[in-house]
Order: sequence, then structure tokens, then C-alpha cells
Amino acid sequence: MTQPAATAPSVQRVDAKHRYEILVDGETAGFTAYRDRDDRRVFYHTEIDDAFAGQGLASLLVQQALADVRVSGKRIVPVCPYVAKFLKKHDEFADITDPVTPELLQWLETVLPR
Ligand SMILES: CC(C)(COP(=O)(O)OP(=O)(O)OC[C@H]1O[C@@H](n2cnc3c(N)ncnc32)[C@H](O)[C@@H]1OP(=O)(O)O)[C@@H](O)C(=O)NCCC(=O)NCCS
Repeated sequence: MTQPAATAPSVQRVDAKHRYEILVDGETAGFTAYRDRDDRRVFYHTEIDDAFAGQGLASLLVQQALADVRVSGKRIVPVCPYVAKFLKKHDEFADITDPVTPELLQWLETVLPR
């Protein structure tokens, strides 16, 4: 049986890696990755380690990442299907969400490592 976390999970922005990470008892349980284009933060992939799946950690991570985008005065572009699904359920971010466009997807291809 999975032991309950001794401390509440925490989310940190790691600019050098272009991602937000969620930590559980000091261990990185997952991340949501982004690239910035002007004032738009483009989220393209979210991942939670299998050992931490199904505990609502992705939801907590994305909630806090998007709140940080708002505080930073930026806008959200949800390329990642998980973030897109999250935004459909949480309309409090609708005012700072921009659509995914073909041009933006092309740009993303050029900045992501192969
Ligand atoms: C998707 C993923 C991040 C969810 O992590 P998690 O902490 O177990 O997720 P939560 O417990 O917060 O939420 C589970 C929800 O994720 C949804 N979900 C699972 N896989 C999904 C996917 N590929 N795309 C969108 N949503 C997904 C589930 O339907 C569930 O939705 P519900 O809350 O409406 O029932 C995790 O399963 C994972 O790392 N998967 C592999 C990578 C991946 O497919 N990432 C998403 C696309 S970039």
C-alpha cells in the first residue's frame, strides 16, 4: 500500500529546465514542461511518475503552474492534452488562455530538442 505523504506536495518553477516540478517528500514526482513565446507560456507536456499516479498530483501541479503564469502577467497556451483538459474544467483561467495555432505548433517544433 502506498504510504501517505508526510508533507504536502509542493510545486516549484525551474526556469533552467523550462518546467514546473511537483515534489512529494522531497522527491520529484512529475513535471509540466513549457516554452515561452513572447508573453505566452506554451505548455506542451505533463508527466507524473507511475509510482505517484492517480493521486491528483497532475491536477495540483497544473493548478499551481497556471496560477504562477497569472502572477507573472503571462498568458497560457495549452498544447499538452492534460493542460487542455484541465482548462475545460477550470474556467478561472479562460481570460488568460490563448488558442493553439498551426503557426505556434510549428514554432514549438523548432525550439524543442529532438
Ligand atoms: C496524464 C498524467 C500526467 C496524469 O497524472 P495523474 O497525477 O495521475 O493525474 P490526476 O490524478 O491529477 O488526474 C487524472 C486525470 O488525468 C486524465 N488523463 C490521464 N491521461 C491523460 C491524457 N493523456 N490526456 C489528458 N488527460 C489525461 C484522466 O482522465 C483523469 O481525469 P479526471 O480527473 O477527469 O478523471 C499521467 O498519467 C502521465 O504522466 N501520463 C503519461 C504522459 C501523458 O500522457 N501526459 C499527458 C499528455 S502531455
